[in-house]
Amino acid sequence: MRQTILTGDRPTGPLHLGHYVGSLRQRVELQELHDQTVLVADLQGLTDNGHNPAKISENILNVVADYLAVGIDPAKTTLCLQSALPALSELTLYYLNLVTVSRLERNPTVKNEIAQKGFERSLPAGFLTYPVSQAADITAFSATLVPVGDDQLPMIEQTNEIVRAFNRIVGAPVLTECQALLGKVSRLPGIDGQAKMSKSLGNGITLGASADEVQAAVMKMYTDPNHLRVKDPGQVAGNVVFSYLDAFCADEARVSELKAHYQRGGLGDVVLKRLLNDELQTLLAPIRARRAAYLADKGELVRVLQQGTDRARVVTGELVARVRRALGLALLV
Ligand code: TRP
Repeated sequence: MRQTILTGDRPTGPLHLGHYVGSLRQRVELQELHDQTVLVADLQGLTDNGHNPAKISENILNVVADYLAVGIDPAKTTLCLQSALPALSELTLYYLNLVTVSRLERNPTVKNEIAQKGFERSLPAGFLTYPVSQAADITAFSATLVPVGDDQLPMIEQTNEIVRAFNRIVGAPVLTECQALLGKVSRLPGIDGQAKMSKSLGNGITLGASADEVQAAVMKMYTDPNHLRVKDPGQVAGNVVFSYLDAFCADEARVSELKAHYQRGGLGDVVLKRLLNDELQTLLAPIRARRAAYLADKGELVRVLQQGTDRARVVTGELVARVRRALGLALLV
């Protein structure tokens, strides 16, 4: 069945291979079958960068270039900018009244992020409440399907709680519940073996990385620290090179053979890394070239984003108007 899909990214930096595996690749497929909107979530990006707005604004077009470079087609996918859709901010304010502070503090993803970022007493209120803004994003488009990583499941749950509360209060099915769509590979480890590839940890490979940077990152990848001689048996679990081969090498039988060989002994890290490097270079070369071409014509990127945002303004404007009417707030035009 054709679904209405909403997804998005905070523009905190150029996108990397973790994004590619976790979501970008899937979006290119989903746009063929569904009605897909991809949101550049600059407002959400500001929730932990309020004192450094340039970091967000400077990355908006980088992210749009990344989208186009991987094959997200603006004729099939609506690309839009969160801050240019006032309906999203208005909905957030209505929904904030339906959510308790203690419920927000219990959201496991937000709880982890708060601990990681060491906010303590300096926690921005906007950060604590970003799941509500995300619920506004999702419901503004009446999305039925939200492709997410497993760390975003609590957002979906919280969105549906808001949907049910709102519909119950107004006595009509104004908002639509959504379902999560989990990807096949939901998380790519960093090159250092940390659980997640992230710009802040400096353990990622961006989509625009040069051929030399890609190769250097592959050669630095964490493998099995006890695999000292080629003839020794090696460990596959926790070995980043194998995680990447799983994610990027289409020939699964070949990867299984390599794993067996590595575990028996006799297969060296450098051979494996060369193989992975070849895969990644083949994948990234055309993406890098397209990305550079798009970034050389920022006017065109702005036009693409403007067109998608214009379309999204209509959809989200209609939904917020229905919400206002349902709340009895439609006295004035
Ligand atoms: N939370 C997403 C991120 O961390 C971005 C995002 C904002 C989003 N609004 C959304 C994702 C709505 C899915 C649906 O990058």
